[in-house]
Amino acid sequence: MMTISSRTLAFLFFLSLLSSISLADNVNEDLEDLEQLLSIDEEEDKGGAAQGKPSEAELLSRAQRIVVELNNENVKRVIDGNELVLVLGYAPWCQRSAELMPRFAEAATALKEMKSPVVMAKLDAERYTKAAKLLDIKGFPTILLFVNGSAKPYTGGFTGDEILIWVRKKTGSPLIRLSSVIAAEKFLKKHQIHVIGFFESYEGIEYDEFVKAATTDNEIQFVETNDVKVAKVLYPDIRSNKAFIGIVKTEPERYESFEEKIEEENILNFVEVNKFALVTSLTELNSARVYSSPIKLQVYFFAETDDSKPFILLLQDVARKYKSKIMFIYVDSSEESLAKPLLTLFGLDGKRPLEFCSGLLLGTLSPFFKSEPIPNHSEIIEKVVGRTFDSSILDSAENVFLEVYTPWCIDCEATSRQIEKLAKHFKGQENLKFARIDASLNEHPKLQIDNYPALLFYAAGNKSNPIKLSKKSSTTELAAFIKENMKSKTANTSSHDKFKKDEL
Ligand SMILES: *[C@@H]1O[C@H](CO)[C@@H](O)[C@H](O)[C@H]1NC(C)=O
Ligand SMILES: *[C@@H]1O[C@H](CO)[C@@H](O)[C@H](O)[C@H]1NC(C)=O
Ligand SMILES: *[C@@H]1O[C@H](CO)[C@@H](O)[C@H](O)[C@H]1NC(C)=O
Ligand SMILES: *[C@@H]1O[C@H](CO)[C@@H](O)[C@H](O)[C@H]1NC(C)=O
Repeated sequence: MMTISSRTLAFLFFLSLLSSISLADNVNEDLEDLEQLLSIDEEEDKGGAAQGKPSEAELLSRAQRIVVELNNENVKRVIDGNELVLVLGYAPWCQRSAELMPRFAEAATALKEMKSPVVMAKLDAERYTKAAKLLDIKGFPTILLFVNGSAKPYTGGFTGDEILIWVRKKTGSPLIRLSSVIAAEKFLKKHQIHVIGFFESYEGIEYDEFVKAATTDNEIQFVETNDVKVAKVLYPDIRSNKAFIGIVKTEPERYESFEEKIEEENILNFVEVNKFALVTSLTELNSARVYSSPIKLQVYFFAETDDSKPFILLLQDVARKYKSKIMFIYVDSSEESLAKPLLTLFGLDGKRPLEFCSGLLLGTLSPFFKSEPIPNHSEIIEKVVGRTFDSSILDSAENVFLEVYTPWCIDCEATSRQIEKLAKHFKGQENLKFARIDASLNEHPKLQIDNYPALLFYAAGNKSNPIKLSKKSSTTELAAFIKENMKSKTANTSSHDKFKKDEL
């Protein structure tokens, strides 16, 4: 019988709607790392190189120097003069940039060792605004791959290895070919996860599909071999004689074989669904990938490391049952920067772990959507929260004009002022109300917005078909639209097509 300390444990269950949340608030150390690196660079530039065995800092600084520094003068020459350039656009004050820089340098070193033709470059986009503008670098950090001068967005992971893997995939080396047992053993030591393809010959339709999948995938190293002995080092249970594809991960569910028709899309789907561990530990580095997983049903499990082991085993059993349907994620609750935003987000008090588990197994849980507390007093524009979305909007008999905003969105304030004017103009109008919802703090399954601000008109009697209005509409246009589309219970339907700018 296990005992659970409810103080340290909490579970929750939700549909992943998290893409707008940033979880990276700490990493002061990384900023210091960067400053250290920069000061080392300066010192060494003054000619004060140390003697003897290189220290870790020196190695890092050497790695940094492999990365070409772009500025307003050299940027065009570097980008146009090289077939392949990977550029990291950063700002000195940006923590994420600081975090990324040593990893970028690590990838640069490895690429150099491999004699890759890719030039790795970095640009202080704040200092060299002209160059940043030329490369169209707007946020930090930004990574872009320039192929013969044209930019391609970076879609890989953010460890040194992942940067390396992505660059190789997109620059003509999507696979590693293993031709000896020794090479395979060496490979195995280095890679925690990989996809193996065994093909008798490196040709044919199936092989081509495998190579295409290796190229399209953004983060996992694919390997190929035509030697069963080599393949067995990576995947001991491999069946010989015919083409075979499998994924190899860290314990406990180490091996998974691909059983479908060998086509790019099937392979990619197989990789997406199988690349995570039974229970994934959330880290700063994999959080974005976890949130964007195609498995949208996710169970988060919070515990301090010491308490977590028995539960992780328990969870693994459950996870095995729900493989590829529900994703199980462990968050170390002592890692404040990771756990706290999530716990706060879900308003979790940490008091219902067992209830949650049994609910999960019995299938009686409902997905979790975040909501602010229900507000007390009414204003000219009604404040709607996740929990009042149904009653205030969908179940209300009135026409509702809804403004969806977030505190950080750039255009939201101007739009809010515009809507306030509108609300005053229509004040006292029967059958019409104005409402707004802060999408950073409130969710509802029927509200799926990814661009803020958003303006939605919920016509009375037709609440399941809100009309999305362009936020560029003038106040007069919006007023005209409302007049035209407001419906009384018996009203005719009228046309609103000219304002319908976006699909919802
Ligand atoms: C870049 O341009 C050169 C010269 O036109 C061409 O040979 C090469 O294939 C191009 N590279 C890519 C990746 O398109
Ligand atoms: C609503 O009113 C109660 C009692 O006046 C107060 O305790 C509570 O904090 C208020 N809630 C909000 C969201 O303002
Ligand atoms: C409800 O809205 C949709 C989409 O705007 C529209 O096609 C449909 O005709 C409307 N139905 C009624 C009964 O007004
Ligand atoms: C519906 O619209 C038609 C034409 O615009 C109008 O003649 C009719 O009176 C309207 N009916 C109602 C119930 O408003």
